Amino acid sequence: GWMNELNGLNVLEMQLKEKLQLKDVVIVSGNSDEDAWVKKEMGKAAFHFLQKIVKPDDILAVTGGTTMFAVAEAMKPFPFDGNILFVPARGGIGEQVENQANTIVATMAKRTNGAYRMLFVPDLLSEASYKSIIQEPAIDEILGQIKSASIVLHGVGDAIRMAHRRNAASDVIDQLHEKEAVGEAFGYYFDSKGNIVHKIRTVGLQLKDLNEKKYVVTVAGGKSKARAIASYYKLGKSDVLITDEAAAKVILRDN
Ligand code: BG6
Repeated sequence: GWMNELNGLNVLEMQLKEKLQLKDVVIVSGNSDEDAWVKKEMGKAAFHFLQKIVKPDDILAVTGGTTMFAVAEAMKPFPFDGNILFVPARGGIGEQVENQANTIVATMAKRTNGAYRMLFVPDLLSEASYKSIIQEPAIDEILGQIKSASIVLHGVGDAIRMAHRRNAASDVIDQLHEKEAVGEAFGYYFDSKGNIVHKIRTVGLQLKDLNEKKYVVTVAGGKSKARAIASYYKLGKSDVLITDEAAAKVILRDN
């Protein structure tokens, strides 16, 4: 019955929390690789969790992806007055418009009656243009807001799948295979030991910016992402993981 199922998920949550050394783990039932509603449930669970930690005037830095889109779709106004500002975590890293952080922060702000800023930095920039663009006052201002974010909401992807989705050059894809990249987050690709094997150069949050002052909420699920999620936890900071049952079981079994 449902009581048993709930207890089963609670046990998995406790085991995963222990294994990954997290403040919290939330697991929804199912496998988001197979059923779209499971990703929606992860979105709802992430928003539910967010309501517990968000305070008026917080700045939330958000990455792109279909999972973050599901989080955005689950949002409603927060139960307090006070401004929440949504900003993209990093500049363009090769996503389609609908998956871009810029699009997602706009949706989140609209749904919560919050505010948002977009960051327009093209993906492929020469070193020289890059250096001059980040000195533009408007870009500099939003970069400051991004760095001061108190909450970071992010997805994790399978390395090779993400590289293809971003139309990465074939030499980059070869290199990822050669270096056995399994996971991707914030435009960093890493192997199963947590070594960074490739990184997309762009402005905004860098992995080293994820310090104790930021509450990092990781949302990622699906059996096919289990390795990627486990590898992120070898190097990246995270306070809470919102995932699904299928990913949780494989992480606990194989890692
Ligand atoms: C991208 C982020 O937009 O979404 C990546 O830049 C992340 O860091 C990816 O891995 C996750 O995508 P999805 O669709 O699997 O949630």
